[in-house]
Amino acid sequence: MPATKIIQLSTEYPDAYKVKEAAEVLRAGGLVAFPTETVYGLGADALNADAVQKVFKAKGRPSDNPLIVHIASLENIQQFASSVSGKGMQLARRFWPGPLTLVFYKKIGIPDGVTAGLKTIALRVPDHAVTLELLRQFGGGIVGPSANISGKPSPTSAEHVYNDLNGKIDLSIDAGPTKIGVESTVLDVTVDPPIILRIGGLSREDIEKEIKEVHSTNKSDMLRRSPGTRHRHYAPRARVILFPPADEEKYRELIHQNIEQRKKIGSITYSKVLADIGQSVFHVVLESSIEHIAGNLFRALRELDRHEVDIILIEGVEEKGLGAAVMDRLRKAAFHDGREI
Ligand code: TXA
Ligand code: MG
Repeated sequence: MPATKIIQLSTEYPDAYKVKEAAEVLRAGGLVAFPTETVYGLGADALNADAVQKVFKAKGRPSDNPLIVHIASLENIQQFASSVSGKGMQLARRFWPGPLTLVFYKKIGIPDGVTAGLKTIALRVPDHAVTLELLRQFGGGIVGPSANISGKPSPTSAEHVYNDLNGKIDLSIDAGPTKIGVESTVLDVTVDPPIILRIGGLSREDIEKEIKEVHSTNKSDMLRRSPGTRHRHYAPRARVILFPPADEEKYRELIHQNIEQRKKIGSITYSKVLADIGQSVFHVVLESSIEHIAGNLFRALRELDRHEVDIILIEGVEEKGLGAAVMDRLRKAAFHDGREI
């Protein structure tokens, strides 16, 4: 495939004419990377089985990992879901458009590739003017896994999409960096209380304010409900080591150990104090607000890979609100050879 065409669009006032070009590519069974408020997605017509297969191929995604279908509004749920629980509808009304993906029983006629053979389907209305316009013009559902090579950190800018998928997809929309920076929260609403399958841009606390009770799940149940979670995720090329928030002593020790082993070290921390330690370390210092950390984490991991470091030391965060999603990504990034370190 020739180089991917890139179109620039303003997030606030997307040019409807340029969006039309993207909708036409989708209609013709092509692949279009699109922005959302969480991360960039890799889009294809959800009802075109061949186009859906192309998504798996471009990403190198294992076929047992189902895709999220993006829709323009609540009214489109019925096109894809066979039944909608009261709580499912309540949450959709409250949080869409937004970083919440809801898992419903699927309707027949949806290509098996989309749902990886499961009886359920994941739906979400993204909160991004460009993609809402695209969905309206396209008229159907758009599958949208994160637009990265499978296993890598999700793309939070069109540049990341370019680095991973140039030449493998037809069109890429550039609407600047994404707002939230971690993916949507995936919630199974086929059961009551609903179960969180992936914590993300919408916090557990916010969901609980709306429906009181929500469950997490154990590993085997999770694998049954969301088989894709078994695969490696968010992993840069370098090995990632997590250390507890503000633990200066542990950080010094890790730097010392790795310098002794002649490793090229990168770090991601949130305070000046830690950034002053270790002269030969490639430091990425993020602001300490959890919104800023979430928004810049994947960018920072990719940046350190570009510097070709061997090891990335990352400071943990407090596990509440958006911090739970950040810690989930950090743990997965730090998961090596079947063991967490
Ligand atoms: O924020 C997001 O969700 C982004 C943007 C582009 O919308 N998309 C995204 O897609 O992160 P992806 O494919 O990288 O992650 C989709 C997640 C996976 O964990 C997958 O296993 C889960 O959703 N999933 C999809 N369909 C499912 C289903 N029917 N049942 C359970 N889990 C499902
Ligand atoms: Mg992904």
